[in-house]
Amino acid sequence: MRNVDVRLHRDFAIGTTHPRLFGAFIEHLGRCVYGGIFEPGHKTADAKGFRQDVLELVRELAPTIMRYPGGNFVSGYNWEDGVGPVANRPRRLDLAWMSTETNEFGTNEFIDWCRVAGIEPMLAVNLGTRNGDAARNMLEYCNHPGGTALSDLRRSHGWEKPHGVKFWCLGNEMDGPWQMEAKTATEYGRIALEAAKMMRWIDPSIELAACGSSGRRMPTFGAWEETVLDHTFDQVEYISLHTYLNNYDADTPAFLASCDLMDSFIDEVVAIADSVAARRRSAKRIMLSFDEWNVWYRTRRNRAARVKEGWPVAPPILEEIYNVEDALAFGGCCISLLNHADRVTAACLAQLVNVIAPIMTETGGPAWRQTIFHPFAHFSRMGRGRVLRTQIDSPTYAARYNDPNGPRDEFFAMPEVPYLKLAAVHDPDGHTLTLFALNRSLTEPLPLRLQAAGFNGLAIKQALQLCDADLKAVNTRQNPDRVAPTRLAAARTNGAALEAELAPASWNVIQMTTAG
Ligand code: AHR
Repeated sequence: MRNVDVRLHRDFAIGTTHPRLFGAFIEHLGRCVYGGIFEPGHKTADAKGFRQDVLELVRELAPTIMRYPGGNFVSGYNWEDGVGPVANRPRRLDLAWMSTETNEFGTNEFIDWCRVAGIEPMLAVNLGTRNGDAARNMLEYCNHPGGTALSDLRRSHGWEKPHGVKFWCLGNEMDGPWQMEAKTATEYGRIALEAAKMMRWIDPSIELAACGSSGRRMPTFGAWEETVLDHTFDQVEYISLHTYLNNYDADTPAFLASCDLMDSFIDEVVAIADSVAARRRSAKRIMLSFDEWNVWYRTRRNRAARVKEGWPVAPPILEEIYNVEDALAFGGCCISLLNHADRVTAACLAQLVNVIAPIMTETGGPAWRQTIFHPFAHFSRMGRGRVLRTQIDSPTYAARYNDPNGPRDEFFAMPEVPYLKLAAVHDPDGHTLTLFALNRSLTEPLPLRLQAAGFNGLAIKQALQLCDADLKAVNTRQNPDRVAPTRLAAARTNGAALEAELAPASWNVIQMTTAG
């Protein structure tokens, strides 16, 4: 392949990454909570039942904010079921995932887990089967210091200090017919506005995210965002986006191209949000909360992998096993998020443990890293700072991506997909410049030439790659490090220039120190 030229300038930045860009998600779904983060009796569990082996991997993964308790689950959740003495908590049918919820783990346990993990909590309220009244009560229970029935109830439960949760999601995917009490945009917009208003009256310091459409391919997409923001514009800071990439067609080049649709999705939602602002002559900018993103398809349409009969507790569902090509497409999503750091100021990898997750556990057994763990850890650990504008001159290819909404195939033409997808992050305090680069050619190495104007004395601090001759290789309990990053040897700097050769089908992270 011919040289691929990248140019950037130290002074030209897209924006600075928000700490919340590197979030993840814990839903009451399958073995994410029970047997995932929480397993009393496990040999690594502490007195609260938190698995320390999982916590150790979570710390290495380094998510910054954690969304909870759903997802689809939240649309039928009574938050009151999950607080107070565990022995008194009711068992309930969960209609989102056809399971039995024991409520052994609830909001207070989640807050404790976040504190131990050093992660900011993000809570979602139920605007499906419930409404603004339940939402405001939950907020009062969590955030009000004391002296009212609900805040004193929290104190009587053993949490004297308020939780001080700042980020709240107003429901989840409310346009999805699969959602409990799905709504039209007008119905949802009204309820979300009223919930937001009351919540803010209780605690003016909170930040609120309205639900965007549950996907770009939904028939509701676009009009939904516009109507919802027409209602809620003055009361919310965020609108949410969700995307799951797939390789239903076993077409790897198209799969690796599909992360570019995340860029288009973000641009489109920004345009809609700003058009609502323009009609109001408002300078306010609604930010984007990309609070569900990942690769998910093997366990998505497949009913046996989605539902276990007989209303079991914590069934092994949505346990997607990720391979090398999934990690590459996933890395492409990280690059898309970085390159929109000006407007995407919160994002959550869905999910954290066992359920479409970077971390897998065996109940009673060990925990290990899936392939997608590695790009996320790189993204979170090395992606903080000023994201620089880049000009990329790369050869392209054409792809036809199957992006179905429901069981029907729907193809999407992508005529010019650059082989190189890249983001550059400058951390002025750490004196580093980091490149995140995806080579989407399955056969050709990619000769990367970077000219970084305004920098001098670039020196390689570390250069890592994730690639494998077998794109279907996975990590397992028996072979947990079959797929892991290795050193990228073919990278040299000279002044403000870098030359590197990126292996075919590879995720690469090149971190350079900068002089001065
Ligand atoms: O993350 C799995 C599910 O995907 C979530 O519960 C839902 O919000 C989305 O459809």
